[in-house]
Amino acid sequence: MGLKTLEIVTIDGPAGSGKSTVARSVAEQMGYTFLDTGAMYRAVALGAIERNITATDLEKLTVFLNQIQLIVRSGQDMMRLYLDDIDVTETIRRPEMGQHASDFSRLEIVRNYCTRLQRRFGAEGRIVCEGRDMGTVVFPEARWKYFLTAALDERAMRRWKELQIKGEVIDYDDIRNSLKKRDFQDTNRDIAPLKPADDAVILDTTKMSIETVVSRIINDIRSNVSQNV
Ligand code: DC
Repeated sequence: MGLKTLEIVTIDGPAGSGKSTVARSVAEQMGYTFLDTGAMYRAVALGAIERNITATDLEKLTVFLNQIQLIVRSGQDMMRLYLDDIDVTETIRRPEMGQHASDFSRLEIVRNYCTRLQRRFGAEGRIVCEGRDMGTVVFPEARWKYFLTAALDERAMRRWKELQIKGEVIDYDDIRNSLKKRDFQDTNRDIAPLKPADDAVILDTTKMSIETVVSRIINDIRSNVSQNV
């Protein structure tokens, strides 16, 4: 295993499992780059929708993917996305964008586009990336793989609270139903479905605090590094 793969941490899991918060915190504490790959799928979906391209229009989508410039500026605790020079970081967080991203992410051309972009970051090493297929497809050789899960009710509650803080009032049951639908779609698609890699550590975060999950991951990495010195 090369040094680069030793320095790749993958965190996969369903929506609301805590991946983003955990990945950002691990990256910050380890001095690694944080990569939120769901944001890339959201940006592609947003760009397509803005041009009235649907997920069934493969011809137009191919042209669109060949033309767009998706720039990802990633640091230890932040990531900004620019679609043809327009900052879409906030727009892609609109609640409906999760389902749109899931719809477009089923398509091979979209997956190839995003996977290529993600691997470019991986080539630099020292990244913590989170998504659905980081440990299975994008970085199967990564040394540190985690799969976070949590009960649906808990995940829906987390999402509801996040939206409340942002001042968006959305019915809890609506959030729960949309998470359930999206997870089903992400788990049952043909290409790169949501599932743990065979060698991933599975952590059920339903009753775990973010801090506990983060320290577990950092301890794993640090204790291994010290054993190899
Ligand atoms: O993590 P998120 O909610 O921002 O992801 C939005 C959607 O993007 C998710 O429902 C499925 C898709 N996605 C994917 O297919 N593969 C990834 N690595 C990340 C996200």
